[in-house]
Amino acid sequence: MDSIIVTGNGPLNGQIPIAGAKNACLTLMPATLLSEEPLTLTNAPRLSDIRTMTTLLRSLGAEVSTLQDGKVLAMASHGEINPVADYDIVRKMRASNLVLGPLLARLGHAVVSLPGGCAIGARPMDIHIDALTALGAEIELKEGYLHATTKGGLKGAVHEMRFASVGATENFLMAATLAKGTSVLKNAAREPEIVDLANCLRKMGAQIEGDGTSTIEIQGVDRLHGATHPVVTDRIELGTYMLAPAICGGEVECLGGRIELVGAFCEKLDAAGIDVEETARGLKVRRRGDRLRAVDVVTEPFPGFPTDLQAQMMALLCTAEGASVLEEKIFENRFMHAPELMRMGAKIEVHGGHAKVTGVNRLKGAPVMATDLRASVSLILAGLAAEGETIVNRVYHLDRGYERVEDKLRAVGAKIERISGQ
Ligand code: EPZ
Repeated sequence: MDSIIVTGNGPLNGQIPIAGAKNACLTLMPATLLSEEPLTLTNAPRLSDIRTMTTLLRSLGAEVSTLQDGKVLAMASHGEINPVADYDIVRKMRASNLVLGPLLARLGHAVVSLPGGCAIGARPMDIHIDALTALGAEIELKEGYLHATTKGGLKGAVHEMRFASVGATENFLMAATLAKGTSVLKNAAREPEIVDLANCLRKMGAQIEGDGTSTIEIQGVDRLHGATHPVVTDRIELGTYMLAPAICGGEVECLGGRIELVGAFCEKLDAAGIDVEETARGLKVRRRGDRLRAVDVVTEPFPGFPTDLQAQMMALLCTAEGASVLEEKIFENRFMHAPELMRMGAKIEVHGGHAKVTGVNRLKGAPVMATDLRASVSLILAGLAAEGETIVNRVYHLDRGYERVEDKLRAVGAKIERISGQ
């Protein structure tokens, strides 16, 4: 397993290109199952999760070609479609459950393994099941697999979700495009990745309104045609790299960044003492003074503060002046970066869904363990400004969501290198 060694090396200056969004691409790819015609995605990120989704779609009978060094995914599912999403693939990545809605819409039946839990939580699928049942699916759990069938195909319905689940919104949205009649989804997730999926589905001929709000209306159509669609900029990668100059000093321009992707996050950066300037090419970030101020953070569904930036924000607040309280309201176990940051000298008290961070002057480098995707990158960020050397182990977590993080950070002056493991 690879490790990454990062050494505190002063201010960072330059430009970091932001890739296409992992969490948009992972829902756009299964949309190929909704049509027999080709769906091509451009601006795709080069990540191991995308390779996992590629393997899954191929196992279902879809053709997926990666072109232009992986930035273009040319897909088509015009042959025989296999309805079974195997546990062996699904257990590696929860987003595999996003083939459930498309398979039901295309075939009228599907057998999708439950993903099982992961480091940050149990990750149940009840909201997905309720949403697809509302569209006329009958879903039964047998030996760890969801067996979904429909008699006479999916039918439009009005459904209100108990929680604005991102994945359940995406499964409902994709399934409803081919259901008979009108569907209305209430308490829908509002993330930019939902809007990106709706934009792509509309290019394929779907009739969708209200995406980006809590109520989405879909008029079912008989069939969808092919399309070409650029994956939206990754707002979580964007927020992550905006924190690099915030933690280290200097000035970094994140190319492709847009304020509307990180609104709530920028409000917290401003309160902490960080300036964000919109430029023609992206977002330029620099610290205002020499010491940051403590801020409180509560993670919420979009447009609130994103849970996927909570760990990275904690790394920033470890050296801010004063005490910050971070409340994690989306996942039940998403503070695993805290004990690792404490190995670096951070002062953090975790009580259930709350973490209190009392700022210290400077962290000290140490060997630390990556536990999940966003926790991993928060340790890299902490190491950028820490005194001495930080070795982050198990960086395969990192490669799921960040393209060559060491290259992007080295390009702006970070002292960072990857050590290949056995
Ligand atoms: C998406 O996961 C993202 N993944 C996650 O990003 C992100 O953290 C999450 O949305 C919240 O924004 C992808 O888009 C591939 P949810 P998803 O359904 O769809 C509970 C990353 O780091 N829940 O909105 O799985 C669930 O357990 C990843 O890139 C149910 O109880 O998130 C969680 O506590 C991590 N029952 C909460 O809702 C359900 O049926 C939010 O889950 C579904 C979810």
